[in-house]
Amino acid sequence: MTMKIIGTGSCCGDHLVTNQDLAQIVETSDEWISSRTGIRSRRLTTGLGTSGMAAKAAERALKDGNVHPEELDLILLATSTPENHFPNGACEVQAAIGAVNAAAFDISAACTGFVFALQTAYGFMAAGGYKKILVIGADDLSKVTDWTDRKTCILFGDGAGAVVVEKEEKGMFSGVMKADGSRGQVLSCRARSGGNFLTGKKPEIGYIYMDGQEVFKFAVKKVPECVEQLLKEQDVQKEDIRYYILHQANERIIDSVAKRLKEPIEKFPMDIQDHGNTSAASIPILLDEMNREGRLTRGDKLILAGFGGGLTWGAALMEW
Ligand code: COA
Repeated sequence: MTMKIIGTGSCCGDHLVTNQDLAQIVETSDEWISSRTGIRSRRLTTGLGTSGMAAKAAERALKDGNVHPEELDLILLATSTPENHFPNGACEVQAAIGAVNAAAFDISAACTGFVFALQTAYGFMAAGGYKKILVIGADDLSKVTDWTDRKTCILFGDGAGAVVVEKEEKGMFSGVMKADGSRGQVLSCRARSGGNFLTGKKPEIGYIYMDGQEVFKFAVKKVPECVEQLLKEQDVQKEDIRYYILHQANERIIDSVAKRLKEPIEKFPMDIQDHGNTSAASIPILLDEMNREGRLTRGDKLILAGFGGGLTWGAALMEW
């Protein structure tokens, strides 16, 4: 048994924010941001939020795959910025798109979330009973960004990307998932917390904290390692990989991973310049753009790889 992506969709924040716009609110410049990250602008959501963007991306993926919402058995939403503790965001998407036969729950693994969700979908299909699953990555990081912190606020954007996956007999799907909770503080964002019965204190929102250099070192070491592991386990040669679709966190991280894998940078598509780091959404947004631009051909072997808070990282190998 294997699974295939049969439809893709995406929805980005409605509000364009350029590097020059950010230079108005913190001490930075377009030159500093673009030379260190590859980012030139990002789109932030001012209305839809995580679930709204996720639902729009889902509708587009269903349309692209010619799938009726009632055909879905399961909805998995990878996000670390849900609107609520409950109902979960996947249930909000289910209600918005009318997927009345689908179970729905969220997966939290920060920027690795989509890669973990895809492997979760595969596990459900392999266990039996699930044939069509909607897998979404969506994040609204702007609501947990400290807009006075130039070390983090220049990096992130908001968006959602979705794919419909279907159970298949022919093709290929496999993956690896990794975590190191002992290094969680390197990249973190506290949940709304601090509410206290005794003092009557109300909960406060948490903001993103990041040790940029540690995250950089972690990503450029762990991503190539897990890609190599996956290729070895599946006995697939690098020459057979058409594209490496990496989490879009930083152009320099992607360059570095390409070098460590000794693969040409042309095999690493990027859209980070227009979106920034959209966390769990970055891989499915890029996949959707490539699909709509006709850059993917059935049978292409793809590696999808993510890394982020947790720390978490992982990769999936699949045939388009
Ligand atoms: N504009 C201008 N200067 C800035 C700045 C900004 N937006 N952000 C930081 N600086 C300054 C720092 O204050 C520091 O100044 P100092 O030397 O006077 O103290 C200097 O630039 C260097 O800071 P540093 O943090 O060492 O920069 P860096 O070269 O490591 O680049 C990142 C910072 C964030 C671009 C880089 O560490 C990175 O990309 N890390 C990975 C982040 C990531 O991808 N996170 C998400 C993973 S899912």
